[in-house]
Amino acid sequence: MIIGKLPSPWMIDQFVATYLSKRDELIKRSTPEVDFIENVLKLGPGRKILDLGCGEGRHSIELARRGYIVKGIDISPTLIDAARDRAARLGVPVEFEVADIREYAVDEEYDAILLMFVVLGDSGNEDDDFKILRNSFKSLRKGGKILASFLNASRQLVRGNQKFNIETSTITWSADIDIGKIKHHLTQPVRLYFPSEARMLMKCCGFEVLSLFGDPFSSDKPVERSIKPDDLEFLILGQKPEE
Ligand SMILES: C[S@@+](CC[C@H](N)C(=O)[O-])C[C@H]1O[C@@H](n2cnc3c(N)ncnc32)[C@H](O)[C@@H]1O
Repeated sequence: MIIGKLPSPWMIDQFVATYLSKRDELIKRSTPEVDFIENVLKLGPGRKILDLGCGEGRHSIELARRGYIVKGIDISPTLIDAARDRAARLGVPVEFEVADIREYAVDEEYDAILLMFVVLGDSGNEDDDFKILRNSFKSLRKGGKILASFLNASRQLVRGNQKFNIETSTITWSADIDIGKIKHHLTQPVRLYFPSEARMLMKCCGFEVLSLFGDPFSSDKPVERSIKPDDLEFLILGQKPEE
Protein backbone atom coordinates (compact mmCIF):
# COMPACT_ATOMS: atom_id res chain seq x y z
CA MET A 1 0.00 0.00 0.00
CA ILE A 2 1.35 3.42 -0.97
CA ILE A 3 -0.11 6.41 0.82
CA GLY A 4 0.07 9.59 -1.17
CA LYS A 5 -1.37 12.92 -2.09
CA LEU A 6 -2.37 13.47 -5.69
CA PRO A 7 -1.41 16.35 -7.96
CA SER A 8 -4.75 15.70 -9.69
CA PRO A 9 -6.83 12.51 -9.57
CA TRP A 10 -7.83 13.27 -13.18
CA MET A 11 -4.32 12.31 -14.33
CA ILE A 12 -4.88 8.76 -13.09
CA ASP A 13 -6.59 6.54 -15.63
CA GLN A 14 -8.08 4.25 -12.96
CA PHE A 15 -9.86 7.25 -11.42
CA VAL A 16 -11.01 8.52 -14.83
CA ALA A 17 -12.30 5.02 -15.70
CA THR A 18 -14.58 5.13 -12.62
CA TYR A 19 -15.89 8.52 -13.78
CA LEU A 20 -16.44 7.24 -17.35
CA SER A 21 -18.34 4.21 -16.02
CA LYS A 22 -21.07 6.67 -14.95
CA ARG A 23 -21.03 8.35 -18.34
CA ASP A 24 -24.42 7.06 -19.64
CA GLU A 25 -26.15 8.47 -16.55
CA LEU A 26 -24.25 11.79 -16.92
CA ILE A 27 -24.92 12.05 -20.66
CA LYS A 28 -28.66 11.49 -20.04
CA ARG A 29 -28.65 14.52 -17.69
CA SER A 30 -26.88 16.71 -20.25
CA THR A 31 -29.87 17.60 -22.45
CA PRO A 32 -31.94 19.27 -19.65
CA GLU A 33 -28.73 20.81 -18.26
CA VAL A 34 -27.94 22.37 -21.64
CA ASP A 35 -31.57 23.60 -21.90
CA PHE A 36 -30.92 25.42 -18.62
CA ILE A 37 -27.50 26.72 -19.76
CA GLU A 38 -29.01 28.08 -23.00
CA ASN A 39 -31.88 29.73 -21.11
CA VAL A 40 -29.66 31.61 -18.69
CA LEU A 41 -26.90 32.57 -21.15
CA LYS A 42 -29.42 33.90 -23.70
CA LEU A 43 -26.93 33.82 -26.58
CA GLY A 44 -28.19 31.84 -29.56
CA PRO A 45 -26.48 29.57 -32.10
CA GLY A 46 -23.33 30.79 -33.81
CA ARG A 47 -21.85 32.29 -30.63
CA LYS A 48 -18.55 31.05 -29.19
CA ILE A 49 -18.47 29.05 -25.95
CA LEU A 50 -15.44 27.77 -24.01
CA ASP A 51 -16.16 24.75 -21.79
CA LEU A 52 -13.37 24.61 -19.17
CA GLY A 53 -12.84 21.25 -17.45
CA CYS A 54 -15.15 19.77 -20.10
CA GLY A 55 -14.56 16.13 -19.07
CA GLU A 56 -15.79 13.84 -21.83
CA GLY A 57 -17.53 16.77 -23.46
CA ARG A 58 -21.15 16.13 -22.59
CA HIS A 59 -22.08 19.86 -22.50
CA SER A 60 -19.68 20.84 -25.33
CA ILE A 61 -21.08 18.25 -27.72
CA GLU A 62 -24.74 19.03 -26.97
CA LEU A 63 -24.12 22.78 -27.38
CA ALA A 64 -22.27 22.25 -30.69
CA ARG A 65 -25.15 20.02 -31.87
CA ARG A 66 -27.41 23.04 -31.24
CA GLY A 67 -25.25 25.28 -33.45
CA TYR A 68 -22.82 26.96 -31.01
CA ILE A 69 -19.11 27.13 -31.82
CA VAL A 70 -17.57 25.28 -28.91
CA LYS A 71 -14.10 24.53 -27.60
CA GLY A 72 -13.69 22.08 -24.69
CA ILE A 73 -10.56 21.92 -22.56
CA ASP A 74 -9.54 19.34 -20.00
CA ILE A 75 -6.35 18.29 -18.22
CA SER A 76 -7.08 14.58 -18.76
CA PRO A 77 -5.88 13.19 -22.12
CA THR A 78 -8.10 10.13 -21.60
CA LEU A 79 -11.23 12.27 -21.21
CA ILE A 80 -10.32 14.43 -24.24
CA ASP A 81 -9.83 11.24 -26.33
CA ALA A 82 -13.27 10.05 -25.20
CA ALA A 83 -14.77 13.46 -26.06
CA ARG A 84 -13.20 13.48 -29.55
CA ASP A 85 -14.40 9.91 -30.22
CA ARG A 86 -17.97 10.70 -29.19
CA ALA A 87 -18.12 13.96 -31.18
CA ALA A 88 -16.78 12.13 -34.27
CA ARG A 89 -19.30 9.30 -33.83
CA LEU A 90 -22.15 11.81 -33.61
CA GLY A 91 -20.77 13.91 -36.48
CA VAL A 92 -20.74 17.07 -34.32
CA PRO A 93 -17.92 19.60 -34.90
CA VAL A 94 -16.25 20.50 -31.58
CA GLU A 95 -12.65 21.48 -30.93
CA PHE A 96 -11.09 19.73 -27.92
CA GLU A 97 -7.70 20.41 -26.36
CA VAL A 98 -5.68 18.95 -23.48
CA ALA A 99 -4.52 21.86 -21.31
CA ASP A 100 -4.30 23.01 -17.71
CA ILE A 101 -6.96 25.71 -17.27
CA ARG A 102 -4.89 27.32 -14.47
CA GLU A 103 -2.54 28.36 -17.29
CA TYR A 104 -4.88 28.66 -20.29
CA ALA A 105 -6.14 32.04 -21.56
CA VAL A 106 -6.77 33.69 -24.92
CA ASP A 107 -7.56 37.32 -25.76
CA GLU A 108 -11.26 38.32 -25.48
CA GLU A 109 -12.43 35.59 -27.82
CA TYR A 110 -15.48 33.98 -26.23
CA ASP A 111 -19.13 34.99 -25.74
CA ALA A 112 -19.47 32.60 -22.80
CA ILE A 113 -17.44 30.36 -20.52
CA LEU A 114 -18.68 27.31 -18.64
CA LEU A 115 -17.15 25.83 -15.48
CA MET A 116 -19.55 23.00 -14.79
CA PHE A 117 -19.69 20.46 -11.97
CA VAL A 118 -16.74 20.68 -9.55
CA VAL A 119 -14.15 22.21 -11.85
CA LEU A 120 -13.69 25.10 -9.40
CA GLY A 121 -12.73 23.67 -6.02
CA ASP A 122 -11.37 20.50 -7.60
CA SER A 123 -7.76 20.99 -6.45
CA GLY A 124 -8.76 22.05 -2.93
CA ASN A 125 -6.62 25.16 -3.37
CA GLU A 126 -8.45 28.47 -3.77
CA ASP A 127 -5.38 30.03 -5.44
CA ASP A 128 -6.08 27.71 -8.39
CA ASP A 129 -9.67 28.97 -8.55
CA PHE A 130 -8.42 32.58 -8.67
CA LYS A 131 -6.11 31.64 -11.57
CA ILE A 132 -8.91 29.84 -13.46
CA LEU A 133 -11.34 32.76 -13.04
CA ARG A 134 -8.76 35.43 -13.94
CA ASN A 135 -7.88 33.48 -17.09
CA SER A 136 -11.60 33.13 -17.86
CA PHE A 137 -12.00 36.90 -17.51
CA LYS A 138 -9.20 37.43 -20.02
CA SER A 139 -10.65 34.93 -22.51
CA LEU A 140 -14.15 36.50 -22.47
CA ARG A 141 -15.09 39.36 -24.74
CA LYS A 142 -16.51 42.48 -23.01
CA GLY A 143 -20.12 41.78 -22.03
CA GLY A 144 -19.46 38.00 -22.23
CA LYS A 145 -21.05 35.67 -19.67
CA ILE A 146 -19.66 33.05 -17.33
CA LEU A 147 -21.63 30.23 -15.70
CA ALA A 148 -19.72 28.60 -12.85
CA SER A 149 -20.77 25.84 -10.48
CA PHE A 150 -19.61 25.59 -6.85
CA LEU A 151 -20.09 22.94 -4.17
CA ASN A 152 -22.13 24.49 -1.37
CA ALA A 153 -20.23 24.71 1.94
CA SER A 154 -23.33 25.52 4.01
CA ARG A 155 -24.67 21.99 3.39
CA GLN A 156 -21.77 20.62 5.49
CA LEU A 157 -22.86 22.75 8.46
CA VAL A 158 -26.54 21.88 8.02
CA ARG A 159 -25.60 18.18 7.98
CA GLY A 160 -23.13 18.52 10.86
CA ASN A 161 -20.22 16.99 8.95
CA GLN A 162 -17.46 16.86 11.58
CA LYS A 163 -14.87 16.30 8.84
CA PHE A 164 -15.62 19.62 7.15
CA ASN A 165 -12.68 21.97 7.80
CA ILE A 166 -14.38 25.28 8.55
CA GLU A 167 -11.12 27.26 8.34
CA THR A 168 -10.26 26.16 4.79
CA SER A 169 -13.81 25.19 3.66
CA THR A 170 -12.49 21.84 2.48
CA ILE A 171 -13.48 18.23 2.74
CA THR A 172 -11.05 15.44 1.91
CA TRP A 173 -11.93 12.97 -0.76
CA SER A 174 -10.18 9.62 -0.48
CA ALA A 175 -10.05 6.40 -2.49
CA ASP A 176 -8.18 3.12 -2.68
CA ILE A 177 -7.09 2.58 -6.25
CA ASP A 178 -5.11 -0.36 -7.67
CA ILE A 179 -2.38 0.84 -9.99
CA GLY A 180 -0.63 -2.21 -11.42
CA LYS A 181 -0.21 -4.57 -8.47
CA ILE A 182 0.10 -1.80 -5.91
CA LYS A 183 -2.81 -0.44 -3.88
CA HIS A 184 -2.66 3.33 -3.44
CA HIS A 185 -4.57 5.18 -0.74
CA LEU A 186 -5.13 8.59 -2.28
CA THR A 187 -6.47 11.72 -0.69
CA GLN A 188 -7.46 14.99 -2.26
CA PRO A 189 -8.94 18.09 -0.62
CA VAL A 190 -11.92 19.69 -2.37
CA ARG A 191 -12.72 23.38 -1.78
CA LEU A 192 -16.39 24.15 -1.08
CA TYR A 193 -17.76 27.70 -1.07
CA PHE A 194 -20.34 29.58 0.94
CA PRO A 195 -22.53 31.46 -1.56
CA SER A 196 -21.36 34.87 -0.28
CA GLU A 197 -17.71 33.78 -0.67
CA ALA A 198 -18.29 32.63 -4.23
CA ARG A 199 -19.94 35.95 -5.11
CA MET A 200 -16.91 37.76 -3.67
CA LEU A 201 -14.48 35.49 -5.55
CA MET A 202 -16.26 36.31 -8.83
CA LYS A 203 -16.15 40.05 -8.07
CA CYS A 204 -12.46 39.90 -7.10
CA CYS A 205 -11.76 38.39 -10.52
CA GLY A 206 -13.55 41.29 -12.24
CA PHE A 207 -17.02 39.87 -12.91
CA GLU A 208 -20.41 41.40 -12.22
CA VAL A 209 -22.63 38.82 -10.52
CA LEU A 210 -25.97 38.63 -12.36
CA SER A 211 -27.64 35.68 -10.59
CA LEU A 212 -27.06 32.85 -8.15
CA PHE A 213 -29.08 29.65 -8.71
CA GLY A 214 -29.63 26.94 -6.09
CA ASP A 215 -28.87 23.40 -7.30
CA PRO A 216 -30.73 23.64 -10.62
CA PHE A 217 -29.62 20.16 -11.69
CA SER A 218 -30.97 18.25 -8.68
CA SER A 219 -34.31 17.74 -10.44
CA ASP A 220 -35.06 16.14 -13.83
CA LYS A 221 -36.27 19.48 -15.11
CA PRO A 222 -33.73 22.14 -14.02
CA VAL A 223 -35.35 25.29 -12.67
CA GLU A 224 -34.09 28.79 -11.80
CA ARG A 225 -34.59 29.13 -8.04
CA SER A 226 -32.75 30.68 -5.11
CA ILE A 227 -30.33 28.70 -2.96
CA LYS A 228 -31.33 26.61 0.07
CA PRO A 229 -28.79 25.88 2.85
CA ASP A 230 -28.82 22.12 2.14
CA ASP A 231 -28.30 22.38 -1.64
CA LEU A 232 -25.37 20.30 -2.90
CA GLU A 233 -24.34 22.80 -5.53
CA PHE A 234 -25.08 26.31 -6.76
CA LEU A 235 -24.34 28.18 -9.95
CA ILE A 236 -23.28 31.77 -10.45
CA LEU A 237 -24.01 33.62 -13.67
CA GLY A 238 -21.52 36.46 -14.11
CA GLN A 239 -20.63 38.96 -16.78
CA LYS A 240 -17.48 40.73 -17.88
CA PRO A 241 -18.42 44.43 -17.76
CA GLU A 242 -19.05 46.13 -21.11
CA GLU A 243 -16.51 48.86 -20.25
C1 LIG B 1 -16.30 16.48 -12.17
S1 LIG B 1 -15.55 16.70 -13.74
C2 LIG B 1 -16.73 17.71 -14.61
C3 LIG B 1 -16.67 17.50 -16.10
C4 LIG B 1 -17.70 18.27 -16.92
N1 LIG B 1 -17.58 19.72 -16.74
C5 LIG B 1 -19.11 17.80 -16.61
O1 LIG B 1 -19.94 18.61 -16.12
O2 LIG B 1 -19.39 16.62 -16.85
C6 LIG B 1 -14.22 17.89 -13.41
C7 LIG B 1 -13.31 18.03 -14.63
O3 LIG B 1 -12.37 19.10 -14.42
C8 LIG B 1 -11.15 18.71 -15.02
N2 LIG B 1 -10.07 19.51 -14.42
C9 LIG B 1 -9.73 19.60 -13.11
N3 LIG B 1 -8.67 20.42 -12.94
C10 LIG B 1 -8.32 20.86 -14.19
C11 LIG B 1 -7.30 21.73 -14.67
N4 LIG B 1 -6.43 22.31 -13.85
N5 LIG B 1 -7.23 21.95 -16.02
C12 LIG B 1 -8.11 21.37 -16.87
N6 LIG B 1 -9.10 20.51 -16.46
C13 LIG B 1 -9.21 20.27 -15.14
C14 LIG B 1 -11.04 17.23 -14.71
O4 LIG B 1 -10.11 16.56 -15.53
C15 LIG B 1 -12.49 16.78 -14.93
O5 LIG B 1 -12.73 16.36 -16.25
